[in-house]
Amino acid sequence: MGPYLYAAASVGLFLSIRTISWRRKVHRDLSGASSRLNDYDKVYSNHPPIIDIPSSEIFNNPREAYETALKDHGPVIAVRRKGLLEFIVDENLCQTVLTSDQSFSFEEAMAKILNLRPYVSFFWSFFREIDDLVQNGINPRLSNIMEQICPVFIRSAGRAVDQRTVDMFEHAHTSIAEGMIILIFGEGYANEHSIEIITNVATDIAGLTGNSVNNFILGRNFPTIFATLTWLNVTCTSIFAFFRFIGPQVWKHVRSRKWVPGEEKPTSVLEYLSYKHATNGSVGFTSFLWIMSMLLGLIFASVHQTASVVVWVVFEIAKRPEYLKALRDELHNNVDPVTNDLDPSNIGEAIQKATLLDSFIREVMRTKGDTLATCRLTTVDVHLAGYTIPKGHLVYPFATRIHLNPVHHPDPSVFRPDRWSGDDARPAVMTSASYISFGLGKWACPGRILAVSEIKMIVWSLIAKATPRLVGNKYKIVDPLNITSVPPQGELILEPFSFA
Ligand code: HEM
Repeated sequence: MGPYLYAAASVGLFLSIRTISWRRKVHRDLSGASSRLNDYDKVYSNHPPIIDIPSSEIFNNPREAYETALKDHGPVIAVRRKGLLEFIVDENLCQTVLTSDQSFSFEEAMAKILNLRPYVSFFWSFFREIDDLVQNGINPRLSNIMEQICPVFIRSAGRAVDQRTVDMFEHAHTSIAEGMIILIFGEGYANEHSIEIITNVATDIAGLTGNSVNNFILGRNFPTIFATLTWLNVTCTSIFAFFRFIGPQVWKHVRSRKWVPGEEKPTSVLEYLSYKHATNGSVGFTSFLWIMSMLLGLIFASVHQTASVVVWVVFEIAKRPEYLKALRDELHNNVDPVTNDLDPSNIGEAIQKATLLDSFIREVMRTKGDTLATCRLTTVDVHLAGYTIPKGHLVYPFATRIHLNPVHHPDPSVFRPDRWSGDDARPAVMTSASYISFGLGKWACPGRILAVSEIKMIVWSLIAKATPRLVGNKYKIVDPLNITSVPPQGELILEPFSFA
């Protein structure tokens, strides 16, 4: 009963804040209508064209639907989706939208997508803090982290290969969750129950961003009701379980000692945050809650998407066996000749040198079919390509036109990992206005080096022991509008392989 009361109170608060702000807005609109009419007209006179794309096209065939609309009416169009008027821009405006932080906000976009706009001020500090903890609490320790978590991937691959058929998303999701538990909390926290809690949190919060919304009629037609119910459900179940079962262990941990900055180097993200938030060496209850929320955010950002991209990469390897020999040659020196297991002791360096696999991953990320992947919210009326986009709207650079642009990627539809090696070598983590799989600018994904390293370790640990094959040599795209967060489906078979 407790969690339901807590959740009901949160939803009640959420709805009352929304109602009050709506009533204020109506009042302002009524009282200022005549004086604002001209301004409104002025904005509207060069409003980008509003294109009516049927929902069925948006959800089932987004690539062609938006592509055609942009071709016919671009470079800026407005399209209604799930009750919101969204703005889509073509490849030439991508950099402006993603990097002009004065007029486009990442945090406000996230708050809007998560249906948490009333709490947007919380998001400003939340994302800054999460960014800091990845940049300073994770990235400087990456080679140690890889040694620490590599055995997780080796063990999971062993189990998967024994089973022969594997649910690839489940395999990647649980392995990455276990790895993240070790790097966030420490070795002592990794057990079946905590892995289950973390995978549930990652899946449920991913659902809140709209990843699964597209799969539900309620989500498509009544997004606000859907969001409220989903928040209620997530708060009562996975978030509650996170606080209930992991919370006490974390509380005991952070209260067990003094955290004097500079005395010792942190060995986990939790320790990094404890040093940062301790007052006179102690972590108080409010700081504990803040730290737990931060960790929830980190789990959400780091587990689900990475697991999904692993599925894309492994399925593409299965579909393109001609690359397997070269990928294995690159791996060969880094496996134990008897067990075919990876060697965790120098895995960081080995992975850095794995340029073929890196190019393969980059090519999968470019071609997998992202559409509306990254976005910003206008914080003022923005003048773009002769149009005015009104304040308070989501703006998406259309990833299809960016990733399949023949100017930057000759023969854009051809899968060619070698386009990223040689003179034009670019690692999978390098962002640019022609490759936005990890975003661009100040808010580009700070966890991308870890993400690509995890993908490499998972792929290596599998292909060292097995040859992946897809039944029928095909997979199915489940949600073409959410390519990165909803993995494709296919039946994967692991045929045993040995270097010996
Ligand atoms: C393959 C897996 C991943 C993909 C495709 C991905 C992609 C992205 C994208 C597109 C953004 C938004 C960037 C923008 O709008 O410019 C983002 C933001 C973010 N990502 Fe990732 N990400 C992945 C894995 C990770 C991991 C493993 C972590 C943490 C260790 C992480 C942490 C974050 C954080 C904290 C943000 C918020 C922005 C910031 O704080 O600067 N991501 N990611």
